[in-house]
Amino acid sequence: MKSIVVSMIVAAGLMTAGSAMAVDMPAVALKNKCNTCHKVDMKLVGPAWKDVAAKYKGVAGAEATLSAKVKKGGANVWGTMPMPPNPTVSDADMKELIGFVLGLAK
Ligand code: HEC
Repeated sequence: MKSIVVSMIVAAGLMTAGSAMAVDMPAVALKNKCNTCHKVDMKLVGPAWKDVAAKYKGVAGAEATLSAKVKKGGANVWGTMPMPPNPTVSDADMKELIGFVLGLAK
């Protein structure tokens, strides 16, 4: 009984914080180790993917821009911390990854 009350309080707290269900990293992100630096809804080494999605929402060509950026790496969009190149990500995986990231925009 006590644990039910506690979990209800925790759930209510999460809801008031505005974070609905946390979205997990997809398998393709774990496979390509994006999760070492990124989380969906929190800044880690790199920006939260939710924030990336919001930034590029409605931006023409965002998919191509971001695919190239992830492949070649780079810095100065979110801060001076660079993202190292990720040349081993296959084209199919990249499409899925960027699709996932941009799909987070609401
Ligand atoms: C070693 C850490 C690290 C890894 C691994 C990493 N990233 Fe990043 N990522 C960063 C950093 C740091 C930035 C911010 C770069 C900037 O400010 O320009 C970033 C930025 C991004 C952006 C936004 C780019 C922009 O120009 O706005 C996307 C999209 C992204 N990463 C996707 C990925 C994907 C997909 C993977 C896995 C294949 C990945 N990242 C792996 C550190 C990392």
